[in-house]
Amino acid sequence: MKVLVTGGLGFIGSHTVVSLLENGYEVVIVDNLYNSKMDALDGIEKITGTRPKFYKLDCTSVSDMDELFKNEHFDAIINFAGYKAVGESVKLPLNYYQNNLDICFALFRAMEKYDVRNFVFSSSATVYGLPDRVPLTEDSPVKDATSPYGETKVMIERILKDMAFIHKERNIAILRYFNPIGAHKSGLLGEDPNGIPNNLLPYINKVAVGVLKELSVYGNDYETVDGTGVRDYIHVVDLARGHVLALRKLETNPGLVIYNLGTGKGTSVLEVIHAYEEATGVKIPYKFAPRRAGDVPINYAATEKAENELGFKCLYDIKDACLDGYNFQKAELERQKEKEEKKVVKTL
Ligand code: WQD
Repeated sequence: MKVLVTGGLGFIGSHTVVSLLENGYEVVIVDNLYNSKMDALDGIEKITGTRPKFYKLDCTSVSDMDELFKNEHFDAIINFAGYKAVGESVKLPLNYYQNNLDICFALFRAMEKYDVRNFVFSSSATVYGLPDRVPLTEDSPVKDATSPYGETKVMIERILKDMAFIHKERNIAILRYFNPIGAHKSGLLGEDPNGIPNNLLPYINKVAVGVLKELSVYGNDYETVDGTGVRDYIHVVDLARGHVLALRKLETNPGLVIYNLGTGKGTSVLEVIHAYEEATGVKIPYKFAPRRAGDVPINYAATEKAENELGFKCLYDIKDACLDGYNFQKAELERQKEKEEKKVVKTL
């Protein structure tokens, strides 16, 4: 089966490409390198021994996607491409709506023209908005998301449902991720956002390696186990495997299916800090700070549907993810220092 992975050099995309290759799929990657690096392609090759075909393209281009689909005959698409920074989306809503929706329109037009019938969409637990109750099941109400980023996920899910209603021959998997963290055990793939990280684990990783001084814990007065926010942190390698299982499910022609991909366990910010310190032996200095606008107090997944219908179960826990993320951050820092030193030598 030949699979197009858009955003395939990104954090979740690159790990999913590894899992697809390890399970015998042929993979073609498209990425515009807006929020990723070519290093990820080198990492994929080192891990799997295969260097997938790569196109540096912007998925919003209808003409580029048409040319790609004309030359490459795909059996399935996994779409990771899109802007994903919640805070940035609040400041630049039009950019987020236009980019994330245009990507889908370009892909859906190409799918229609070249009769590609299998589509996996990278959605997010953010579509549940402020949950009435936890754990969240796939039948929990989809609400107004807490950001334009989240709203793009809600809108694209709506478009997919309408398409599936008309095109009975289409098989579509909507995967709602909770909080992806960690990195590949090789230290070759992981999450290293530019600038100051918005998300918890990338921030802690930079504190752990001394790039940032201390963590600000946003709010310690929530009605949770210790007053800090609770989330469902899933190892990115488990999440990647979930995509392979979803593709297998589409081969049974199920039509449109929706799955939460999480661990089913809620972990507070303080519990994450303690797990990270235990897993790595590194002390994480922190201070309490005011709540962050848009944060929900608690959310975590009900996992029965993915377990029963996909056979999906997480193999790694929060400490595995903390250690793998830390090891990746250390290795990435080393690689960046080596690149800087080579630049200095060249200029001498
Ligand atoms: C987790 C917890 C914060 C940073 C977002 C998106 C979601 C998905 C994952 C894309 C919260 C606290 C955080 C910090 C902190 N992204 N925190 N100090 O907000 O649950 O989810 O990222 O798909 O769609 O909404 O993740 O890691 O930002 O926050 O105390 O410096 O950590 O308040 O309780 P979030 P997060």
